[in-house]
Amino acid sequence: MVEGNQEQLFPEGVVLVTRRDLAEGPDLFPEELHAMARATPARRYEFALGRRCAREALALLGGPRVAIPVGRFRDPVWPFGYVGSITHCHGLCAAAVARTLPVNSSCAIRGLGLDSEPAASLSEELAGVICTANECTWLAGRQGDDTPWDRLFFCAKESAYKCLFPTTHRFLEFRDLGVRFDPEHGSFDVVLPSLYGSPSHLHGRYAIQDDVLLAATTWMEEPTRP
Ligand SMILES: CC(C)(COP(=O)(O)OP(=O)(O)OC[C@H]1O[C@@H](n2cnc3c(N)ncnc32)[C@H](O)[C@@H]1OP(=O)(O)O)[C@@H](O)C(=O)NCCC(=O)NCCS
Repeated sequence: MVEGNQEQLFPEGVVLVTRRDLAEGPDLFPEELHAMARATPARRYEFALGRRCAREALALLGGPRVAIPVGRFRDPVWPFGYVGSITHCHGLCAAAVARTLPVNSSCAIRGLGLDSEPAASLSEELAGVICTANECTWLAGRQGDDTPWDRLFFCAKESAYKCLFPTTHRFLEFRDLGVRFDPEHGSFDVVLPSLYGSPSHLHGRYAIQDDVLLAATTWMEEPTRP
């Protein structure tokens, strides 16, 4: 199944690197190795693959070759002036990175969120935990579709969470977020709870490639006018 385009998941200025293997072996920095000291070999491999994708994306942006430490809440800590996000699923790893002030753009990028999930439906019980009442009604109208929309809600919400968390450090429940898909354009909008403050909504895009769903959320900020 191929739906949407992985190349168009993010707006201009964002570099997306995907990899399935660590051909040249791991290249972790000491603090990254330290963070993985107790991890299983599989987890260490997945982590190293993510750091490799992230450093390749940073290099393509002309960024520094530095460690990307693990934050207090597992969030990757990007070098000053950059934002990004990492995901792994079914052996696929991807990292998206951007400058916070992209060249030739009047908008600042405050955050990026990238999530990947197996392209298979959730159990009915889990879908009820992830989706709001409005989303469940929308899902009921899509029964018979090939697209596992319930899992796509999950994926879109996780991408929004990853986009926001490194800046806001605020936890969110799945049903705090309202997602509206636009299947014609392979995009979605995320509405945040009114008490959340800024931002009030985010824009995202999704793609389905073989057995993996990808959701990408971007937090862009217009410059404040004097
Ligand atoms: C991080 C999380 C959102 C997604 O993880 P996942 O789907 O299991 O796995 P993925 O491979 O797609 O993503 C893992 C990567 O996300 C990144 N990540 C982890 N915690 C993060 C956070 N708090 N903020 C931003 N990015 C985070 C890391 O880069 C991690 O990979 P790494 O440890 O190798 O660096 C999930 O594990 C989590 O912590 N969920 C709790 C919060 C939540 O889901 N709330 C409801 C959403 S609205």
